[in-house]
Amino acid sequence: MSCAAATGCGAAGVDVSPACIELANSVAKEEGLDGGCKFHVLDVTKELDELLRSKDVGGVDTSRIFRNATVIFLFVYPTLLKSILPLLSRLTDTSQGGNGVRAVVTQTYHVEESEEVEIVEEGRDEENGLRMLSKIIWKGEQNGEITGGKEGRRNV
Ligand SMILES: C[S@@+](CC[C@H](N)C(=O)[O-])C[C@H]1O[C@@H](n2cnc3c(N)ncnc32)[C@H](O)[C@@H]1O
Repeated sequence: MSCAAATGCGAAGVDVSPACIELANSVAKEEGLDGGCKFHVLDVTKELDELLRSKDVGGVDTSRIFRNATVIFLFVYPTLLKSILPLLSRLTDTSQGGNGVRAVVTQTYHVEESEEVEIVEEGRDEENGLRMLSKIIWKGEQNGEITGGKEGRRNV
């Protein structure tokens, strides 16, 4: 919402918790940002191809959200962050058909390099706990599912 207010760009936010989404939409309305900022209930550990291609995942056009995204802002716990690395890779890694996402900004919890993941980091703001990555390259299982998704759902 801060970015949308500062730049005039649109924003789509998702969270699995209906209470969080209700709060986010009401704050957007109070701030006069509800024209361009929409928040939707969505479980991001759903099957990867469904998230990237479907126009109706529980009523949410996820293909549109991901197609239009240029910056992804994440404030999510480590287990969930790890489980969505294949999705972030598909969105940022041009060798996998990356779709125009220029940056993934993580807050507090960050992507760590490992045998399965390579990152291109563009900057850090230590004071605010932010890191900006321009590319996340997933080298782990490529079966279309988000590895660790069920674990992510349990532990976040
Ligand atoms: C650290 S909180 C961030 C809350 C809020 N979005 C914010 O920025 O202040 C992490 C959020 O991740 C959400 N979450 C957990 N599992 C999720 C999932 N599978 N799909 C989408 N959101 C999930 C939780 O409901 C929780 O609101």
